[in-house]
Amino acid sequence: MSKPKEIRVGLIGHQFMGKTHSNAFRNAGLWLELPCKVVMRAVCAKDTEANLKKFADNFGWESVETDWHKIVSRDDIDLIDVATPGFLHKDMVIEAAKHGKHVLCEKPLANTLAESEAMLDAVNKAGVRHCCGFSYRSTPSQALAKKFVDEGKLGKIFHVHARYAQDWIVDPDFAMVWRLDKKLAGSGALGDIAAHSIDATRFITGMEFTRVVGNMKTIITERINPENPTGPKAKVTVDDVTNFLSEFDNGATGCYEATRFATGRKNANHIEINGEKGSLMWDFEEHNFLYFFDRTRPVNEQGFTKIIVTENTHPFAGGPWPPGHGIGYGDSFIVEVANFVTAIVENKEFHPDFVDGVKCQQVLEAVEQSANSRQWVEISK
Ligand SMILES: NC(=O)c1ccc[n+]([C@@H]2O[C@H](COP(=O)([O-])OP(=O)(O)OC[C@H]3O[C@@H](n4cnc5c(N)ncnc54)[C@H](O)[C@@H]3O)[C@@H](O)[C@H]2O)c1
Repeated sequence: MSKPKEIRVGLIGHQFMGKTHSNAFRNAGLWLELPCKVVMRAVCAKDTEANLKKFADNFGWESVETDWHKIVSRDDIDLIDVATPGFLHKDMVIEAAKHGKHVLCEKPLANTLAESEAMLDAVNKAGVRHCCGFSYRSTPSQALAKKFVDEGKLGKIFHVHARYAQDWIVDPDFAMVWRLDKKLAGSGALGDIAAHSIDATRFITGMEFTRVVGNMKTIITERINPENPTGPKAKVTVDDVTNFLSEFDNGATGCYEATRFATGRKNANHIEINGEKGSLMWDFEEHNFLYFFDRTRPVNEQGFTKIIVTENTHPFAGGPWPPGHGIGYGDSFIVEVANFVTAIVENKEFHPDFVDGVKCQQVLEAVEQSANSRQWVEISK
């Protein structure tokens, strides 16, 4: 079968991730060598046609749809990108797969494990390629961390420590949003940000979770209802903070925290991995670097080395500018969509895919069950 000369994209969502993904599709072919042309065919969101047209003009989309059922069934689109709140992922993805579209779906893959499994089943049945948007995998520093583990530089891994901390809802006057409603978001800090830590630590170490014990807490239980600001407050039905311990299939232990109440922390995504031969420290606020401690070096030369990952010999670091200039948040999404489009055209396996999405969802669900039962919960393979 000949390779497609172009991949025609339809995007659903036009806010935070909608903008980030638009920027990524627009720039993927400029930044990285692609085996095909990327056509930004259509964008859809919950908005007026006039607003959508303005958005489409700004970002370079050819057309707009106001009903997602239409965009997923258009026969001039090959790839559907779902960048909407979690409660919409399942229906949008399953419908897109039924129409034979490749699918990129933002994380967490779904609001429940059962939904995510139904989505995996749908893309498998349709024989289409799938990507779950764990974007931090596409930073050069996480790719280097994985390479070091694969090369045996850490030896047997003992511990994983991950903390993802934000502070955007510390203010009690911050009004209700979909991310604080379980029906819409599935969970709070757990699914929104611990999901990234779960995926990143699976990715870097290759270890699988075997059991978890968790604690979840809602610190501010009611918020101003933006639709009726002087009326009764809206109930917050998700966790503001989640902590959990884990065990892995190689005997390693893990300690995780995800919080939206870490005053002063904006997007502090931090991972440390300790092994018998060395340790790694990855921190998104310094994601152009990876810290590595090599215990095999002479004792007098030991210490954490700050490795700069902007040389274009590092995976994904060869952006349009010379070494040393670093890359930013949006750039990992350029890498993500470029690699996904390439996998579609080359007909090659791609990760993170929906299997990775389901694996993450198993951990999310187990942590929630554990927090409710106050007991360790096993994770089946
Ligand atoms: N990879 C990452 O680092 C990352 C970062 C932020 C968000 N996310 C994920 O991306 C997804 C979207 O989050 P966001 O921050 O962009 O949300 P957002 O609130 O900023 O945007 C949601 C979008 O969904 C659209 N939408 C809502 N209902 C719709 C409907 N019925 N039909 C069509 N469009 C509809 C809205 O119009 C809006 O454009 C979530 O799953 C979230 O967890 C991932």
